[in-house]
Amino acid sequence: MTEEEYLCFIQPYEDALKNIRVRVEVLNNDYRRKYQNYPIHYVQHRIKQKESIENKLEENGYDASMDSARNYLTDIAGIRVICYFVRDIYAIVGLLKKQSDIVIIKESDYIAEPKPNGYRSYHLVFGVPVYHTDGMEYYPVEIQLRTMSMDLWASMEHRICYKGEQKEPAAEELKEYALALRKMEEEMEKFL
Ligand code: GTP
Ligand code: MG
Repeated sequence: MTEEEYLCFIQPYEDALKNIRVRVEVLNNDYRRKYQNYPIHYVQHRIKQKESIENKLEENGYDASMDSARNYLTDIAGIRVICYFVRDIYAIVGLLKKQSDIVIIKESDYIAEPKPNGYRSYHLVFGVPVYHTDGMEYYPVEIQLRTMSMDLWASMEHRICYKGEQKEPAAEELKEYALALRKMEEEMEKFL
């Protein structure tokens, strides 16, 4: 993939991502009108870098071409929605799933079922329609919804365990911290 090919390749992913960002923003504003409170603290988004696309394809045994990227990667466009409480996450997920022009490609509820290391988040991959001059095609956008405490944990864990350089005692302690953060958040939700 040349730099020029990459820029051309990611354009529809940028468009699909923009589409989802607007939907999330509209929901945040409308929720605020209805319940006098914003469910979302902040939103991050990114398009996967060229090197990162190529590395992931090669790690998974595919050739580093645009065709493979189109066929096998669903996280080229990514948005991370940081909410206040777990109930806000489920509210946003429910409202997005009701939008009948986007399709669900993948869904993982790591809040109901955390990963063995303690990781929690709600992951969704939506297929988002992008209308070109010669027709419509769906492009995947990965959404990760987390509370602030889930994001704190995941960011720290990512930093500490980057590229699997994980030390045993760290893993055990990190699991304990995940539990402690979860407890704290559940207690604070009781104040609502
Ligand atoms: P990827 O190939 O990494 O996309 O994994 P996957 O297709 O099995 O999807 P999964 O839902 O497991 O993870 C997708 C993304 O969630 C990752 O790219 C990370 O951003 C995040 N994630 C998943 N597991 C962990 C974890 O244990 N720690 C942290 N910090 N982030 C995680
Ligand atoms: Mg990923």
